[in-house]
Amino acid sequence: MSQTIAISGKGGVGKTTIAALLIKYLAKHFTDRDVLIIDGDPASNIPEVLGLKTDLDKTISRITFHLKQQIEKGSLPPGYDKGLHLQNEIYKIIYEKPDYDVLILGRGEGKGCYCFINNLLKNILDPLEENYDIIFLDMEAGLEHFSRRTDRDVDELIIVTDMSKMGFNTMDRIVEISTEVHLNFKKYWIVGNRFDNEDAKSILEDRIQQLKDKFQIDIELIGYIPQNSEIIKRNLIGEALIDVPDENPAYVEAERMGRIIFKH
Ligand SMILES: Nc1ncnc2c1ncn2[C@@H]1O[C@H](COP(=O)(O)OP(=O)(O)OP(=O)(O)O)[C@@H](O)[C@H]1O
Ligand SMILES: [Mg+2]
Repeated sequence: MSQTIAISGKGGVGKTTIAALLIKYLAKHFTDRDVLIIDGDPASNIPEVLGLKTDLDKTISRITFHLKQQIEKGSLPPGYDKGLHLQNEIYKIIYEKPDYDVLILGRGEGKGCYCFINNLLKNILDPLEENYDIIFLDMEAGLEHFSRRTDRDVDELIIVTDMSKMGFNTMDRIVEISTEVHLNFKKYWIVGNRFDNEDAKSILEDRIQQLKDKFQIDIELIGYIPQNSEIIKRNLIGEALIDVPDENPAYVEAERMGRIIFKH
């Protein structure tokens, strides 16, 4: 059984940053396990934090767009197996790193209905994901993808918040919407990012308790990632965050979280 975990939260709270630190943990400790990272954000920031050179053509959105164009132009031979075609294309766009594979969703292209292709895609991604022990998704900010239920196969959700009211409110809305549309996450993990204020911590702890009481869900505050100057510097000069030293205090904390979240 694979473990599928997604990371969500308000825009700019540190989802991709924490994803990178947790991916570092997986790369370091799960060398014997197959890990798939899915960059589900159309703005696609995962390659940058992982130091991955990418090709704009190698995204799920791009290959589905090409297939749709070919179907519309009628340029495919009769009886052509579109599912097999898509499957072959997907294998070509997976970035294979020594410790994990990466799949990039990319930006939606063109208008019109992708329902047929999305169904094909689902039939390909489901068995593909079975080849992995851990599937980890970095998601775009906002709540729309929850109501579209694109996250229906996710088992556990990490919600990141900073010390802002909007960060806390977004956490509440994510829990509310995901229970409304019956996403049935087995576990909600809350991460406080850039927290250095005891009042903010106790307010967050109260809010989590309220969510637990109201929605009867398994929700747990897993800890706080400190504000870290090396994260800021690496972001500004474009150095991959995954290469931070093991002693970096933000990574040390992420490593502690990784041990709890990811099951051996
Ligand atoms: N703990 C931290 N210490 C210092 N800087 C941080 C920390 N966490 C995040 N940042 C910085 O904050 C900015 C936003 O972080 P990040 O891109 O991870 O957020 P996000 O939630 O993924 O954003 P988006 O909603 O756009 O996807 C980045 O410049 C990042 O380097
Ligand atoms: Mg991000």
